[in-house]
Amino acid sequence: MDTVSTSSTFALFSPYTLRGVTFPNRIVVAPMQMYRARKDGQLTDWHFQHYAKWASGGFGTIMTEALMVDPIGRNTYGDLGIWDDAQIEPLKRLTSYLHEQGRVAAAQLHHAGPKASRQRPWEGLGPLGAAEAQKGEPGWQPVSCVATSTISGWNVPRELTSEEIKQLVQKYREAAKRVRLAGFDVLDIHSAHGYLLHSFLSPISNTRQDEYGGNIQGRMRFLLEVVEAVREEWPDDKPLFVRISCVDRRKDIDTETDGWTIEDSFVLSRELAARGVDLIDCSSGGIRAENSGMDYVKKRQPVRKGHQVPYAEAIRATVQVPTMAVGAIIDGPQAERIIANGQADLVAIGRQALRDPHWALNAAHSLGADPEWKMWPPSYGWWLALREKIGVID
Ligand SMILES: Cc1cc2nc3c(=O)[nH]c(=O)nc-3n(C[C@H](O)[C@H](O)[C@H](O)COP(=O)(O)O)c2cc1C
Repeated sequence: MDTVSTSSTFALFSPYTLRGVTFPNRIVVAPMQMYRARKDGQLTDWHFQHYAKWASGGFGTIMTEALMVDPIGRNTYGDLGIWDDAQIEPLKRLTSYLHEQGRVAAAQLHHAGPKASRQRPWEGLGPLGAAEAQKGEPGWQPVSCVATSTISGWNVPRELTSEEIKQLVQKYREAAKRVRLAGFDVLDIHSAHGYLLHSFLSPISNTRQDEYGGNIQGRMRFLLEVVEAVREEWPDDKPLFVRISCVDRRKDIDTETDGWTIEDSFVLSRELAARGVDLIDCSSGGIRAENSGMDYVKKRQPVRKGHQVPYAEAIRATVQVPTMAVGAIIDGPQAERIIANGQADLVAIGRQALRDPHWALNAAHSLGADPEWKMWPPSYGWWLALREKIGVID
């Protein structure tokens, strides 16, 4: 096993403990769907090497992409699943490897709700239609909190009955059990980005009149029931995270809109913490006021570096609950400042991790946390240190 070096000088490379799990550093691979699972939702060797790269790239925690709790909740036919016991074994092989490398293995639970039944991004990201049916990938009717189409032209979802909501709570519970059996250390419940759980939270999308709608207590009910069920199944010594959209997507980058607000996130975070949630994973967006529906990823506006960090900072300071910051965290010095300034407890790196699987090790070297390349696997680090000493001439 390659050892995971930590540092007392650099906040980003200092260890961090929640319940019985010690994170070797503060850097987490953000959950990122790859849309290339087997049709039965099983993890493949391709995924294995995809995650394994980050274990040797210095990330303390590797979080899986969204694992679907129910096939109806899949975004695409390429989604990874956790609805079936047969999906446990390939995930277990992955967690064993991550543990052997001294990494923390995290899994994300998910249901796409109104955004289910669509094409993979590079196939168009639209709803599944006749062409896909011909290829053996017919569309299906999504389920959501209300029967309102999210993006014009997309499948109109069916409204979940309260009985079906209770059944889904049990699916989350069973999924948490499978995640435990697969050997993960951390569980993250995805309740952001306009997907099923977020669609219940937001007053823009949730116009239900029953106990799962109405005021914030009603709109939070489904998520809180999911958390209670998952926490019962998830061991006491393992941390539970919840990813939320701290605010609904703004109309433009500098103007607040109505919808779910940061004050609502304070209320929710308190309720989550009271139910044994250890950390709020702070994202934003996914529901847009002017559309009464989805914020379509292809139509988004540019964002600033670290644009969601202020939400992680505000929740951490106001609710006194640990947070993870995510979104356009690009380089080591930026990530170091976020942790050192107490804006968040962990940082999640998404697209920069796709671009550079050694992002964490490169961040350590550029910050001066690892001047001798000792954090690198020795079979790489020995050579990189020697080359740096000898130098390269232009
Ligand atoms: C390819 C890709 C897939 C994603 N899939 C998920 C996902 O499965 N679950 C989730 O919560 N967020 C998902 N996201 C959002 C990321 O976790 C992250 O919040 C977002 O990319 C912003 O971070 P970044 O700027 O570092 O990429 C995905 C993002 C990308 C680029």
